[in-house]
Amino acid sequence: MKVLIHDSAEAAIAAIANRIVEKVIAKPTCVLGLATGGTVEPVYEALVQKHEQQNVSYSRIRTFNLDEYVGLSPDHPMSYHHFMEKHLFGRTDIKSENTSIPFGNAINPNEEARRYEAAIKQCGGIDCQLLGIGENGHIGFNEPTSSLSSTVRIKTLAPETVRANSRYFKDIAEVPRLSITMGIGTILCAREIVLIAIGDNKSKAALEMIEGPLSARCPASALQLHPHAEVYLDEAAASQLTLRDYYEAVHPNGKVES
Ligand code: F6R
Repeated sequence: MKVLIHDSAEAAIAAIANRIVEKVIAKPTCVLGLATGGTVEPVYEALVQKHEQQNVSYSRIRTFNLDEYVGLSPDHPMSYHHFMEKHLFGRTDIKSENTSIPFGNAINPNEEARRYEAAIKQCGGIDCQLLGIGENGHIGFNEPTSSLSSTVRIKTLAPETVRANSRYFKDIAEVPRLSITMGIGTILCAREIVLIAIGDNKSKAALEMIEGPLSARCPASALQLHPHAEVYLDEAAASQLTLRDYYEAVHPNGKVES
């Protein structure tokens, strides 16, 4: 795992966005795995800026999002379909037919989960998966105790995730309790993984992911098994790491070779 510590949130966001763009330029038909949430909003803003100001084209990429709330239709304002349209898809030349997000309103959510896992395999798998991390160490909606080899399936949100995500809803009672999410096994199949964690509130999860034991208690610790995982952190998210001198010696200022 490459641990890349940046001196500000802005620097970490710019670095991960540059990394993604590098991959798109190197392989214009690449398959990207995408995340939602507050942390990736500025990452998508940076990708939009690259498109508008530097003519970076996403017209041939294929995307698969990590997850969606069960019960929300794509046009629901709190759905992840809506989030992606607002922050990335609707603002770039990504072709909507090349984007995939699980359908939370599918009549049979279990069948939808199987279809989604098969669709990822059918297009040759994910080249690069973007991840955020929950305060409890979740990736996607793989909450603590998720199987480390899980595939796309229905997961119940942990109470702390319901609380955290309620900031986007009028009332906590409106937050769906179920999601369709890529499994940890699905995520580990991506050829490369880039994860971003920003802020104090992510420092414990970052510590457990990077230096803690490999454990279902911290789902993100499964990234320790991945041969090409990069973790982008700001100072605050890195504040509890005990091997910091080592990470900074290997990657001064969070620099990573191309
Ligand atoms: C959603 C997802 C989640 C978020 C995580 C962090 O697609 O993958 O795992 O990345 O909940 O969310 P924020 O960035 O809002 O703290």
